Amino acid sequence: MKRIVVLLALSQLGSVPVRAVDYVSDVLPIMKEHCWSCHSNEEEVKGNLALDDLDEMRDFTIREFSLIRPGNPDESSFLEKMLLPPGDNDFMPRKGDPLPKAELDLIRKWIVEGAIVDAKNPSEKEKARLAGTEMGPDEDELLKFHSWTNTEGRAIEARFLRLVDEAVTLVMRDGKSYQVPLATLSADSQALARKLGEKK
Ligand code: HEC
Repeated sequence: MKRIVVLLALSQLGSVPVRAVDYVSDVLPIMKEHCWSCHSNEEEVKGNLALDDLDEMRDFTIREFSLIRPGNPDESSFLEKMLLPPGDNDFMPRKGDPLPKAELDLIRKWIVEGAIVDAKNPSEKEKARLAGTEMGPDEDELLKFHSWTNTEGRAIEARFLRLVDEAVTLVMRDGKSYQVPLATLSADSQALARKLGEKK
């Protein structure tokens, strides 16, 4: 079982994206279809969230400890709300149908890749995220793709997500996450996981 998890992760190594998924090209069309009536200046702005205000998205909505946390889809309440059962009070789109899985996957991928608003015209912070390094001293290490090795000496590149119950969750470049038992990692990788776990 442990072995399968690590092998799966290793097979992802070849798939480095050609361009980052970004908001204007990939996510905005989905928002227009499902969220516009309540979250756009064109129609109405509910919950103080205007999905068509790109500056506000870039400066406030997308940042550590906000609705969209770059690199961290599982802690982005924006995505979380769309994944809730439709009967839930917090489910989005309110009064609508759940988004198709392919769209949810794309939004997840977008967040994993750094939640860039416009890849053709990135801000300085976004440039740093695209390059795999981040601006804040703490976000830095957490958003970066690190090299991880297992006890058999095989290496993968992934971002750290969390360390819980002696298992580390790693996110690959395609946005898929894998849980790897800490004991199957090399001593260096275990130390890295513990160090990053403390930052969270
Ligand atoms: C029919 C109206 C409606 C639609 C459609 C809708 N929302 Fe909302 N949304 C609301 C309301 C109203 C709120 C205010 C908070 C509340 O009442 O829960 C809200 C709040 C939110 C929040 C929380 C904002 C915050 O600052 O906490 C998020 C995130 C959100 N919506 C995302 C979406 C997304 C993504 C979609 C499309 C997939 C969507 N919503 C579609 C009505 C809507």
